[in-house]
Amino acid sequence: MTGDSKSDSIYARSRELADDAAPLSGPLSGVKICVIGAGFVGCVTAAGFAKFGHEVVCVEKDPEKLAMLRKGRLPFFERDLEELIRSNVKSERLTFASDLDQSLEGQKAVFIAVGTPPDKSGRADLGAINEIVTRLARELEPGQVIVIRSTVPIGTARKLKDILKQNGRENGEIAVISNPEFLREGTAVYDFFHPHRVVIGGDSAEAIETVRHIYRMGAVTPAPTIVTTNETAEMIKYASNAFLATKIGFINEVAMLCDSVGIDVLEVARAMGLDTRIGPEFLNPGPGWGGSCLPKDLQEFLGLGQSRSIPLVILNAVRQANENQHEFVVSKVKSLTENIDEKRIGILGLSFKAETSDLRDSPAVAIARILVNEGFVVKAFDPAAAEDAKRILKDVDIVNSSYDALGNTDCALILTEWSEFQLLDWKKAGEIMRHKNIVDARNLLTPEQMRRYGFNYQSIGQA
Ligand code: UGA
Repeated sequence: MTGDSKSDSIYARSRELADDAAPLSGPLSGVKICVIGAGFVGCVTAAGFAKFGHEVVCVEKDPEKLAMLRKGRLPFFERDLEELIRSNVKSERLTFASDLDQSLEGQKAVFIAVGTPPDKSGRADLGAINEIVTRLARELEPGQVIVIRSTVPIGTARKLKDILKQNGRENGEIAVISNPEFLREGTAVYDFFHPHRVVIGGDSAEAIETVRHIYRMGAVTPAPTIVTTNETAEMIKYASNAFLATKIGFINEVAMLCDSVGIDVLEVARAMGLDTRIGPEFLNPGPGWGGSCLPKDLQEFLGLGQSRSIPLVILNAVRQANENQHEFVVSKVKSLTENIDEKRIGILGLSFKAETSDLRDSPAVAIARILVNEGFVVKAFDPAAAEDAKRILKDVDIVNSSYDALGNTDCALILTEWSEFQLLDWKKAGEIMRHKNIVDARNLLTPEQMRRYGFNYQSIGQA
């Protein structure tokens, strides 16, 4: 395999894991794959499969995006992905195209990775997928496999099979496989090569084997493969995201209690996480969960519950608790700035988490809006999301550095866990602030050190 050193090192780590996996039977050869949609999931999937050794064409209809990708540039920020794309374009295993029909010829599998944004009612909008499958019904040859990679409501694959039938493709001659992704923004490339599991849902043994083969190729997936029905695969995706939201919501509430009784939640979370039944991940308290997936998927799940008259008490509370968490952070800012006139806040971090420029449903954006509505004067800095932030946060002064955000303010507020905020010269920052108050909503800094620098320091659950 050729490629640059960074993405190769990711591959090498995967290889190490793969060496522990059960031996594979017989030689494996690459297959031709089409990936529709060059968003975050499409790009990672296309470049990842190319790295496995498959021949991949990724179809994108947005001409600007396409032009950038062809030049080896990413239209969004995702660590390691640009290098992975470049090395695979160079090795000619990955190409980008605009014409869907031409890109389907001879492909063994067609992965659909287009967006399913919430519609006005909050449910997933399947317009783009329905349109694509209607086109595929006309274009595909028997034996080609459609694989749904986008997150789609339970029952979608069945409806897509109906679209195929309505367009004259009877008897399952074109199979529909559900293959949900579990990629986190910011670490998606790593996640692609180190999956916890691969879920393949469908009713055609041959098509399931094709998708299995695609993942086995390159021997980088020692993770368990779950072969199941389409509906179960769809449910696994929603249940997983709903559970992650619940887990974060839970530790956020424990953090509130820890705050009030003077206990360090990080110590509690660490000890809890050592119990394998609980596990250490997703136990970091913060300003609430956000992003393009957890909120949207929880909303869809709640919508399903409502349509089936199933109350989903826990998950409704999880959503409410997340909104409470924004208010909890704001209340900390208020308590530190109580006696100050014309309160000025310097926010550090606006993206919904570090290593991404994504502002969708970001708790930082929600909190900035609450502060503005309550009369605070707000400046903010984010290392990756500044341009988008200027468009959506008109009443916030988006500045170019952490120091610009903190200068002459009464309270610093860390809302995204970018490591550069940890490395900031906080002594210097304290000197340019009007009052040395800080709310560290990501528990990024060391409380003792911040207090030594003279800050009134508050974090989440570390009273
Ligand atoms: C999530 C899932 O983690 C992925 O498995 C899934 O594939 C993806 O959604 C999707 O459906 O496509 P992502 O939205 O990228 O991934 O972000 P997460 O890493 O899950 O974080 C979500 C939110 O929870 C962020 O706001 C993050 O800051 C917050 N979080 C996460 C915490 O507050 N504490 C934690 O311990 C973990």
